[in-house]
Amino acid sequence: MPRNLDELATCTRCALSSTRRRVVIGSGPAHPRLMVIGEAPGRTEDEGGAPFIGRSGRLLFTLLEEEVGLGRDQCFVTNVVKCRPPANRTPTKGELAACGPWLSMQLATIRPSVVLALGNTAARAVCGFELGIGAVHGRVVEVEGGVAMATYHPAAALRGGPSVVDVMRADLRTLRRLVESP
Ligand code: URA
Repeated sequence: MPRNLDELATCTRCALSSTRRRVVIGSGPAHPRLMVIGEAPGRTEDEGGAPFIGRSGRLLFTLLEEEVGLGRDQCFVTNVVKCRPPANRTPTKGELAACGPWLSMQLATIRPSVVLALGNTAARAVCGFELGIGAVHGRVVEVEGGVAMATYHPAAALRGGPSVVDVMRADLRTLRRLVESP
């Protein structure tokens, strides 16, 4: 079991360590109110070393700014799995289990009061939802130290078009009330 987050940059707990370019740890302030959690880095993130710096990220941060009033630098952004799965496939159970302690440590260190999970993998890992995102998006659950909500992954919105973006916008208005509540 890893002892502290300093060990994350050199992690070899699963085979993704042999195909990644960089461990994408996360970025943002030390103790923001909101933490945003995606699935795993894509190619752009693997090359750049930061989460959501490609097309999905542009859509995500446009929607967060417009519906929640928060910029990228006002939330901590990370992924459930910190290394890119080859060809952007969904992380395996083993990879999720190997990477789990890192996200738990980040949550315990950053202590956000609101967490936004993006897509099926994060909704399951963070909120404990067993149903797909289509059934659970917008639902608010209590988690250690705060509340969490899931919405569609922005990559799904890029594929699915305006109808998915509209659902994300509605979910993010719910998130805004959580972020602004005392
Ligand atoms: N998709 C994710 O889930 N995370 C990223 O950082 C980029 C794309």
